[in-house]
Amino acid sequence: MFQFNRSEISMIGQVQPTGLERASRATLVQLRSFEAVVRLGGVGHAARALHLAQPTVSTQLKELAASLGLALFEPQGRRLVPTAVGERLALAVREMGAAWRGFEDDAAALQGLRRGSLRIAAVTTTEYFLPDLLGPFARQYPGIQIELAVENRDAVVARLERGDDELAAMMFPPQHLPLARWPFLENPLVIIAPTEHALTHRRRLRLSDLTGEPLLVREAGSGTRAAAEQAFAARGVYWLPRMALGSNEAIKHAVRAGLGLAVLSRHTLSQDPARDGLAVLPVAGFPLRRQWHLVWRQDRVLSLPARTLLDDLRARLHVRARPRA
Ligand code: PGA
Repeated sequence: MFQFNRSEISMIGQVQPTGLERASRATLVQLRSFEAVVRLGGVGHAARALHLAQPTVSTQLKELAASLGLALFEPQGRRLVPTAVGERLALAVREMGAAWRGFEDDAAALQGLRRGSLRIAAVTTTEYFLPDLLGPFARQYPGIQIELAVENRDAVVARLERGDDELAAMMFPPQHLPLARWPFLENPLVIIAPTEHALTHRRRLRLSDLTGEPLLVREAGSGTRAAAEQAFAARGVYWLPRMALGSNEAIKHAVRAGLGLAVLSRHTLSQDPARDGLAVLPVAGFPLRRQWHLVWRQDRVLSLPARTLLDDLRARLHVRARPRA
């Protein structure tokens, strides 16, 4: 996560004054009375609107003009008319008021994040990193109950159809639902073998070199399996599975045990797969470059927690992506 360190914070504080250092000569009460006098056209009207005595407002105007060293009004007959600088000050006070109202709106909205829930569905392969991505949001909003349902692709589609969750993370968003999507992370799919397999000594392989080997696949309904099958079909390669296993971990164990080769997301492997007895084979056309998307139904209104999480991820993944670019 991107964080400022202390020296950066104090440096920003020095080079970017807020302007309020100078404004502190005027009080908010004086400014409020002043703006009312300009807007309502007289001390009497302003005093009535603010439930103050007329002399109190007059004193506030005098003190304000004295502390700023500016003439804020000029008399025109019996009326008080603001000078040009007085008009400008009234505008500044209104802008401060608008900024404050904006803050209050945001604060009220953020109060809504004190308690609540957020349901997310995620395909199994994302379980290797999604909890890490959710971590900063979960820590910032401890009152939001996060429910993460981890299922295969077809089960996540069924959940989206029923509207069980607000957000879903998956590789292939279904076409038949009105979904907004945000591709948030690359999903490279690689072919793995046990480290002691003869093919691991080859520097280059074609997919057709592998088809004599037993192939292990995920269960029907898995997006990983669908991606592999599509890639084989697109290359005209006929490679029938020997065995289907219901999880990425089961596949890794089976590959390590020498039962066959498999196509899996690189994210399911540790940084150094050899430590787990696994090797990534250098097959032409692999890794398959696929994307994970966060999706949500466009025909439903996203809750504040869901929107906040999306904003949080967009900001953090963007910051993370920058140094690599
Ligand atoms: P899955 O995940 O193989 O667990 O279904 C892949 C995906 O659909 O992103």
